[in-house]
Parts: sequence; structure tokens; C-alpha cells
Amino acid sequence: MSNWAHNDQLIWHPYSSLMPVFPNLPVDSAKGAHIHLSDGRTILDGVSSWWVNLHGHAHPTLAEAIYKQALELEHVIFAGFTHKPATELAVKLIDYTACDFTKIFYSDNGSTAIEVALKMALQYWINSGTPRYKVIALDGAFHGDTFGAMSVSSRGVFNETFSSLMWEVDFISFPSQDKEEECLQQFATLLEQKPAALIVEPLLQGTAGMRVYSAVFLDRLFAMAKKAGVICIADEVLTGFGRTGKPFASHYLSEKPDIMCLSKGLTGGTMPFGVALANAHVVAAFDLPDLDKVLYHGHSYTANPLACAVSLASLKLLQEDSCIQRIARLSQAQALFAQQLREQYDLKRVDQLGTMVSLELNIDPGYHSNIRNELYAFFLEHQVLLRPLGNIIYVLPPYCIEMEDLQRIHQLILTLLETKGFSSKPIQ
Ligand SMILES: Cc1ncc(COP(=O)(O)O)c(C=O)c1O
Repeated sequence: MSNWAHNDQLIWHPYSSLMPVFPNLPVDSAKGAHIHLSDGRTILDGVSSWWVNLHGHAHPTLAEAIYKQALELEHVIFAGFTHKPATELAVKLIDYTACDFTKIFYSDNGSTAIEVALKMALQYWINSGTPRYKVIALDGAFHGDTFGAMSVSSRGVFNETFSSLMWEVDFISFPSQDKEEECLQQFATLLEQKPAALIVEPLLQGTAGMRVYSAVFLDRLFAMAKKAGVICIADEVLTGFGRTGKPFASHYLSEKPDIMCLSKGLTGGTMPFGVALANAHVVAAFDLPDLDKVLYHGHSYTANPLACAVSLASLKLLQEDSCIQRIARLSQAQALFAQQLREQYDLKRVDQLGTMVSLELNIDPGYHSNIRNELYAFFLEHQVLLRPLGNIIYVLPPYCIEMEDLQRIHQLILTLLETKGFSSKPIQ
């Protein structure tokens, strides 16, 4: 039996039916923005392999950082011990996030970074002697697949099987431009219940359809929260490390979050890792001798030295002029494409923020439920990996993508719009 038959027989893939519509494509290798399949095809990665890859696949600097670290110290227990990659990364990341954080808590992935942040925020109130348990989130939120992260995510296809087991969370409407005042009003009403925390994907909701909302709105929301003492959590698992054009979405705000969660691009897309960073205000509630006030949380691989070393290497690449210029060039090309879509096509929505562009087709995804599969297949036929979210197509490539490759993706989307009947706007 070939390896690939073993895959179908033995492996349970994420978010996938055990009777998948599409076969899992065997990958031999990947380089830059290109994924090389074992059947000889090359696929252009238009989604940064689930939004993680920044500098391109198999980047030699990142590979070397992992290799060198593996020869020194591959892993060590992180309770009672520490190591240089962890302490160096703490200094560099706190500096790079520029949100006055004073502590970093290492975990394994985006969901566990969220769990840590939620525990920090809830225990902050418990430790302070005035327990609060309510968390407020935004409609459409996605914060991960562990139970705490599911609880603060909008109820939907990803978590509704377990809805009776999740804790109750209040959601305010998604702040589309016409709803901002209404959302602030909803939030003001919820503040009367003395919530513990507010959690948001700042400026860009990913899983809900790569939809963008305003920094002015989020600043006002955070200001109201802070005035009421509510802990503000920024889930920058997707938006971190340049995706929005700035190093972090929070850098578009005047109000800074109390806690920030990072993962995905943290290691440049090479390995699982996550962090929750907290400011002095949060940390003060834990900086006590009482054993019952300790944050009892940890993972076997907390602060894994390989993950820390590759994160340091990725951070260094990110801060080089060449990378800053690539992000700017990519953002500009995406903005021009968004403008073209808005001007020439009859679409429900076009959003763009930094390196991300998204467009919502003018069809009802419920009525046309097969649309996602049709779109996915169309792009794959043309050797491009895009994973539409229902009737929403988005492009979120690694920063290393060549401009000709980006244009190929843009052109393919235009061809789709023309050939599948999502035609041009009538000339007025
Ligand atoms: C905004 C956001 N938060 C958290 C997560 C969960 O991250 P992970 O898949 O690493 O658990 C995701 C994953 O897509 C995400 O987009």
C-alpha cells in the first residue's frame, strides 16, 4: 500500500469530513510561495498556508535557526528552568508589540494563547476580590477550537455541536459602518452587567469572511471598556506580524489592549507556538505571594527553544528594510486590486487592509451552498490555492510572493468573475 493510501485510511484531517469531496493533495516540498506536489504540479500559495507563512516556505534563515538551536537545546522543562531563546524573545517581542506589555506567557498555538488570555482576564477579577465572569465578544468572532476559545467565538458551524457545553458570552453586532453607533450602544448596555473582559480580532475578522472594521470604532470601544475597568484582549493571531500593513492591528489604535494573543506568523509559519502578553495592570493581580493567586496553566512544550529561536529569526527578517518594503508593495498592489473590484464589478462587499483583500460574491451562500467547493476547485485547476469562505474569496499571500504571481491570482479572480457570470458593472 502506498503512503497516500495510508493517509486516507489512518489520518483524520482538520475541518474535514472522513468522506472528503476533494482528495488531500500529497506535498513533496515547498519553496517561497510555491507548493510542489508529488504528481509534479506546483501550486501557488495564496493563503499563506492557513495564514501562518510570512517569508516563504523552507526559508533558509529560519531552517538554519531551527537547526542551530536543535544542536544546542531542543527542549527543557520551563517550570523551574529558563533559557536564552525564551528570554531574548521576551525582550524583542515586548519591544516589537509596543503596547507596554510587561510579561509574556508562552503556549502552543492560537487557541491555547486565547485560553491563557481568558484565564488571565477572569482570574484578574477573582484575585482582585471582586469576581467577574462575563466576557463580551463581537458577532462573527473566531478565536479557536478549545472550549474557552469556542465559547468566545460566535456560534456557528465550527462549534454549534457543543453549544450546550460552552459558557455564555454576550456578542455585540459586527460594527459595519452603518452599525457602529448601535454597537457602541449595545456595549454601553452590557457594561451595566460589569463584564470581566472584551475580546476582539482587531480591525479584521478572519473566519467570519475576512471583513474589516474601523480603527476609530475600536478605539472608542476600548476607551469605553477601559473606563469601566474591563480587560481588553486583542486576538492578533491572524492580524499580527504585518498582515494589516503595520506590525500589529493594535498599532492603528490610540487605546492599547491589556492582553494580546499571538501565534500563526510568530514562527514565520514554521512550527506551532503561541503567546499571550499582558500589561502591568493585569500582571499586578498575580504578582503576589498567595499560592491561590497563581495562574495555574502550562504546557509540556511551553517556551520550546526551537520555537523561540525560529521566532527570533523571523522577527529579525520582518524588521529588515527589504521585508518592510515587500509588505508595503504587497499592500499597495492589494489596494489597487480592491479599487478595481469596487469600480468594475457588482460585488456585495470588497474589503482590503494591508496585505489582505477580500470580496463577497453577490450570491446567497445558503441557496448556492456548493459555491465554496466550486470556487476552491476552480482555483486549484489553475494551480492556485485559495480557500474561499462560502461566497467570500480572499487573498492573503506570504510577503515573499513575486508581483507576477500576485497578478496571476488577481487575474484569475477577474476571469472567474467574468466567466461565471459575476459580471462587470453596467457602464453608467
Ligand atoms: C483570530 C484567530 N484566533 C485564534 C485562532 C486559533 O488559532 P489556532 O488554529 O492556532 O489554534 C485562529 C485560527 O484561525 C484565528 O484566526
